Amino acid sequence: MSVLTVAGVGRTLGSTPRSLLASAVEHLHDAALVANPAIDVPLEVLLDRLCLSLAVAKPVGLATWAEREGKRFGPAPAAELAGAACHAIAGAARTFEVDHGRLLATLEILKGEIERALAPMRQVPSPVAPALSAEGADALLAMLAERDSATCSHSRATGEWTRRVAEAMGFDAEASAFIELCALLHDIGKIGTPDAVLFKPGPLTDDEWAVMREHAAAGGRILEQIPSLAHCAPIVRAHHERYDGAGYPDRCAGNDIPMEARIVAVADAFHAMISDRPYRRAIAPRAALTILSEGRGTQWDPDAVDAMLGLFKRAAKPASRYADQRVSTA
Ligand SMILES: [Fe+2]
Repeated sequence: MSVLTVAGVGRTLGSTPRSLLASAVEHLHDAALVANPAIDVPLEVLLDRLCLSLAVAKPVGLATWAEREGKRFGPAPAAELAGAACHAIAGAARTFEVDHGRLLATLEILKGEIERALAPMRQVPSPVAPALSAEGADALLAMLAERDSATCSHSRATGEWTRRVAEAMGFDAEASAFIELCALLHDIGKIGTPDAVLFKPGPLTDDEWAVMREHAAAGGRILEQIPSLAHCAPIVRAHHERYDGAGYPDRCAGNDIPMEARIVAVADAFHAMISDRPYRRAIAPRAALTILSEGRGTQWDPDAVDAMLGLFKRAAKPASRYADQRVSTA
């Protein structure tokens, strides 16, 4: 038999779609599909519609098939059925005198029609509604403000700086908003820090520092209990980890620390340094930038530090007089 056009292949094969069925099944990789006798009918229908689409040179009923079978089998198995059907047609057409390059291109177009119809089903819904996250965060921050208004103010400022750094690093709006949310909640664990430590007017002892440091893990535990904010828990837990592994609570290092936590750490440190604390006075933003640059790659993620420095047109040049300062943002 000699068929000289792609449309001719469609017309010829369309008269016997059942003969393509066994070939299409042979091209399936998903064992669950191969073992499922319920695929025969939808696969035969698809073969028929593909052949008809080839014959009339435009997609016919493919999106409808994809929407129905995508819901029935799932988008990935439905896409595999489409791929197998196209393989079967291309294989059967080997015996014809036809422009095979054009045939394969046309089949790709038809497969694309099916993929487009399946695409919305592949989108995983966000695990958390943003509005729900915001409500939960507002409630927690209101609690924190009742307990410690200074920490609440610091959290809001850290959120703002974090978002700016994230955007400067190229994170999109959604990712930047998530990182900002984590920053807003980074010190929420201080709700459980005893007054004698949280409000001590002078420097903390080693034992008191140990108590203060518990707020990072406590914040993670609190957020784990709130479904709309549970995805923030690992970042909040890790916001005092150091890039060199000398932080807490898990002594993670480098890329083992969530990127979001590394960004929060830089913004947290910057705002803490330019703010008065009970045990020390604020330092100038330029001095804070110098300290960040000196801790680049040791205390903090180098990319996050660079992004923070880049927010300022004239970042401070590293100066040795800041080198001995221990930076602790608690
Ligand atoms: Fe903290």
